[in-house]
Amino acid sequence: MSAQAPTIHPAIQSDALVFFGATGDLAYKKIFPALQAMVKRGHLNVPVIGVAKAGWNLDQLKARAKDSLEQHGGLDPDAYQKLCSLLRYVDGDYADSATFTAVRKELGSAQHPAHYLAIPPSLFEEVVEQLVQSGSAKGARMIVEKPFGHDLASAQELNRVLHSAFPESAIFRIDHYLAKGPVHNMVSFRFSNAFLEPLWHRDYIESIQITMAENFGIQGRGAFYDQNGAIRDVIENHIFQLMCNLAMECPARRDSDSIRDEKVKVLKAIPPIQACNLVRGQFNGYKDEKGVAPDSTVETYAALRLEIKNWRWDGVPFYIRAGKNLPTTCTEVVARLRRPPQTNLTDPAPQNYMRFRILPEMTIALAVSVAAADENGQRSLVELEACRHPRSEEMEAYERVITDAMAGDSTLFARQDYVEEAWRIVDPVLKINTPVYPYVSNTWGPADVPSESLSNVTPPGGWQSPLAETADSFHAVS
Ligand code: BG6
Repeated sequence: MSAQAPTIHPAIQSDALVFFGATGDLAYKKIFPALQAMVKRGHLNVPVIGVAKAGWNLDQLKARAKDSLEQHGGLDPDAYQKLCSLLRYVDGDYADSATFTAVRKELGSAQHPAHYLAIPPSLFEEVVEQLVQSGSAKGARMIVEKPFGHDLASAQELNRVLHSAFPESAIFRIDHYLAKGPVHNMVSFRFSNAFLEPLWHRDYIESIQITMAENFGIQGRGAFYDQNGAIRDVIENHIFQLMCNLAMECPARRDSDSIRDEKVKVLKAIPPIQACNLVRGQFNGYKDEKGVAPDSTVETYAALRLEIKNWRWDGVPFYIRAGKNLPTTCTEVVARLRRPPQTNLTDPAPQNYMRFRILPEMTIALAVSVAAADENGQRSLVELEACRHPRSEEMEAYERVITDAMAGDSTLFARQDYVEEAWRIVDPVLKINTPVYPYVSNTWGPADVPSESLSNVTPPGGWQSPLAETADSFHAVS
């Protein structure tokens, strides 16, 4: 493969978008709706070239886009027409140089295209090589989808492939969780509220728990899911990003590398997960799903404990659980504070906690202990809660990542060193093939687990159910 293409300056706007995998699932569910939204906002006015091997023509791609918009978010006739006027289509095999000659032709005078690989990683090397040979890699950006590799070695190999043609500053590894408003709001909330930082460390925080629950199964993605499982699918990427936002130090500057440096430092302080601190589960019926091996031992649920061995967090356990077919869909963080001293003056006080909900709506809540209304009542927890429902004018995650990548802003993308550190933490335990316990759909994961294993992955005081009602709360809803 030839040497890296000349660097594209971060301030240059991409002047075309090429998306590989144009007839695939991701394009259907996420990319077309994002492109329509970009058109509506006036953020997309360059050629958009779909590439796939489907035996289709441009009219078929336009029809697919229409169907996608009708199913996912709604069709805006004007924006759709405008999108169609930008849309081009190249049908062909990724192994065939003629496909890439056709792409180059469709690019016309564009000098700084963004190439978006919405295709399996096994095809990356071929596509990158062809882009280089056809002259389309020069001055270009490269956008790639997760999962970024299958383990540490394959992630390093993918990085080698991409770096053979593109400098790191031109590579945009998507983790769409980072583009969710409530996820990056956690960082600004932490560093713009003076009351929080003095509490936000090992002296005051007893444990942190992160739940990513989904009340649906694998939605026909058996072939993909069975190669990955919950840890590869959402924990080592989406949840680790959340954890870094919770745990990182305040960056020295606001530029993308200063922010991403702090996240990498968090991961560097985490030892690999031990087998005794992991429980994997699989919902009953998973093995009957299309594309899933009949003897699959892939986890659809995982609960684990890890530690961040640094000055701020040493001794504070972080508990993570994620799963499919759980009782609700919710992503939430609960940080429990240590108990206040118990004195003779008060009843035992319940533990304070901070709660950050990422979805379905953004919530930030602080649970405080107050005296009950009646005279002999126990003290109870009351949540002071600020809640913000998603607004129609807000950017969806995929709109944001495509917009930012085309504008050259790397902040919301995973850097090479981050990706490799994340794999270092989960890779050894994934290779051991620990037991997988069955669970009944619509429950909170496997119940029939040896008690020692279960207690290793259960926060002191238990998991806080996202469905639980607190006794009282004071809301500020906007
Ligand atoms: C994807 C995973 O990355 O994230 C899915 O592959 C998961 O399994 C999804 O359901 C969750 O993200 P969102 O934005 O749909 O809540």
